Amino acid sequence: MTALTPHAIGTPQPRIEAEDKVTGRAAYAYEHQVDEMTYGWIVGSTVAAGTVRDIDITAALREPGVLDVVWHGNAMPLHKVVDTELHVLQGPEIAYYGQPIAVVVATSLEAARAGARALDVNLQESHHESELRRDDPNLFTPESLNAGFPSDTSAGDVEKALAGAAFSIDEVYETPPLHNVPMEPHAAIARWEDDGSLTLWDTTQNSSEVADTVAQVFGLDAGQVVVHSEHVGGGFGSKGTTRPNAVLAALAARVVGWPVKIALTREMTFHFVGYRTPTQQRVRLGADPDGRLVAIAHDTIELTSKLLDFAEQTGESTRHVYAADNRQVTHLLTRLNVPTPRWLRAPGEAPGVYAVEAALDELARAIGMDPVELRIRNEPATDPGSGKAFSSRGYVNCLREGAERFGWGTAFDRRVGPWRVGQGMAGSIYPAYLRPSTARAEVHHDGTYDVSTAAADIGTGARTVLRQIAADALGVPIDNVRMHVGHSSLPQASVAGGSSGTASWGSAVTKACRLLREQLGRADHIPPGGLSATADTSDDVARRADLARFAFGAQFVEVRVHEDTGEVRVPRALGVFAVGRVINARLGRSQLIGGMTMGLGMGLMEEGVMDHTYGDTMNDDYAGYHIAANADIGDIEVSWLDEKDDQLNPMGSKGIGEIGIVGTAAAVTNAVYDAVGVRVRDLPVRLDKLLPHLST
Ligand code: MOS
Repeated sequence: MTALTPHAIGTPQPRIEAEDKVTGRAAYAYEHQVDEMTYGWIVGSTVAAGTVRDIDITAALREPGVLDVVWHGNAMPLHKVVDTELHVLQGPEIAYYGQPIAVVVATSLEAARAGARALDVNLQESHHESELRRDDPNLFTPESLNAGFPSDTSAGDVEKALAGAAFSIDEVYETPPLHNVPMEPHAAIARWEDDGSLTLWDTTQNSSEVADTVAQVFGLDAGQVVVHSEHVGGGFGSKGTTRPNAVLAALAARVVGWPVKIALTREMTFHFVGYRTPTQQRVRLGADPDGRLVAIAHDTIELTSKLLDFAEQTGESTRHVYAADNRQVTHLLTRLNVPTPRWLRAPGEAPGVYAVEAALDELARAIGMDPVELRIRNEPATDPGSGKAFSSRGYVNCLREGAERFGWGTAFDRRVGPWRVGQGMAGSIYPAYLRPSTARAEVHHDGTYDVSTAAADIGTGARTVLRQIAADALGVPIDNVRMHVGHSSLPQASVAGGSSGTASWGSAVTKACRLLREQLGRADHIPPGGLSATADTSDDVARRADLARFAFGAQFVEVRVHEDTGEVRVPRALGVFAVGRVINARLGRSQLIGGMTMGLGMGLMEEGVMDHTYGDTMNDDYAGYHIAANADIGDIEVSWLDEKDDQLNPMGSKGIGEIGIVGTAAAVTNAVYDAVGVRVRDLPVRLDKLLPHLST
């Protein structure tokens, strides 16, 4: 692959749609105005297990404005798809608290809600289990993990190596349920057209997939469902696949014969859009007297719902990050009466790296070795999990540069007034994925270009970076290029997830633009109708060299712990990342800062609290479920290595959406230990976990 001419790539372009967003012109799914709109209100189960015996809709239908109530007693049969969560309202069984059991449709939102209150729901409750427990007799080895990774892998003899190790750590680290809570709650507007096709305005990270999946659910041909998702207010994985709200809106619209809008309340987003499983992770490390790891064992238990096996790849990154001859990674899953966990901000890596990086800190203390040096000492020559060569591995340079910039290892005031000060660090790793995508490039007689792909801009700036990529591939100024994303009728694109968007869509955009340039080179003038080229990267992705491709990072955090209250503050955090070529420094910086902020929240604040009496999450709003915000962090500094990796994609970029969140939580807990000598092994580090250990 030849490199692109550097021009627009690398420049800190502002978001194309910035002004539309701050002025409110940018319309999100819920905001679209559709004629003759009606409103759906989802009614959720108030038990975590059991059956819907009956729903008497008579009283609801008497509410002014109520048009109909859809429930399993009258819903049309849906076609089965792989994602069994989409078989909504198909039967009486209740799998979790909050599961949709009916949709009330009315001429206004208020009327729909009033109708929902008037429903006479008759539920039969049965025994439920919602708690993840190590002694759960139903734990089993999942067939595979999310993204197709194997559940269990091993090499050498871990037990023997641990028994003979000069130093060893054997601890269990726990992470709580974490919720995606994007700023924009999920919503969908569904309108059936006269020709039998379906138009959806949906909150999604993948309009191509929603169009295909909803078509299957309703037995339509591909292309009969059109999905608009021009602006999406965050997703963090919860909009990565078709969610029940899209299917429910389409189902309800079919029943009432009018367009139906369904917007989830914040509370509903805690029930059926996905979240991160809680985990219990046993990490065992063995090292020789020099700090060389002889064994790494990472054994995770986690949960899924009764509807669908979703096994997060918690230990996957442990297969790739440090050298050790004896290694083991296992996962056990249990099916409980809880909502189905799905993707959430670095699925697997975020909780898994937390546990291993915390254990490494404990090992460094046991050996009496600097934790940065311990990590450098265990740098592998090739990918320990696969034996493959790395396309590039900037980890050690991130560690060194981060330590230097942070002032790691230099003396600092250990006490500031009532605050005790500590510092901690941890590593970050995230795969550099590339997925097949398609794109189209068109040139018009006036010399302007339209470039299209069904990519999703979920607030990341994807539209903007794709225009930069297109302009360079076309060899024209960015002002000559109009970039189109966020619609399923554009050329099919892969998900805005797995930090793979820019790499995947950018490859397709580059290819289409180059093809168009070749066409232009052959033509002596642009014909009146213009020229157009489309590209599909499926073959390019399949033909890539067999290498291990990852992004890396190193994070350093300073904390202050109040010795009377146990309150933890973070005056500064610093991350250095190896993410290939950064297409847009302004947007890239903001991705990495956002990731680290979320990682800090994972360390100190985020925690879904389930009341197991009911199997329901109690803190299901922004007040009870705190997402780290500006006031929670002093100064975050991010930078990246000048990394050149020509084994990735034409841009030389690695994804930056998720690497920032990976490792931060461990850096925080390691810093808390440094400050007050308390090792919190169950996230988040709430003050009540510190207080009993603080002597005043
Ligand atoms: Mo993100 S959790 O990869 O959609």
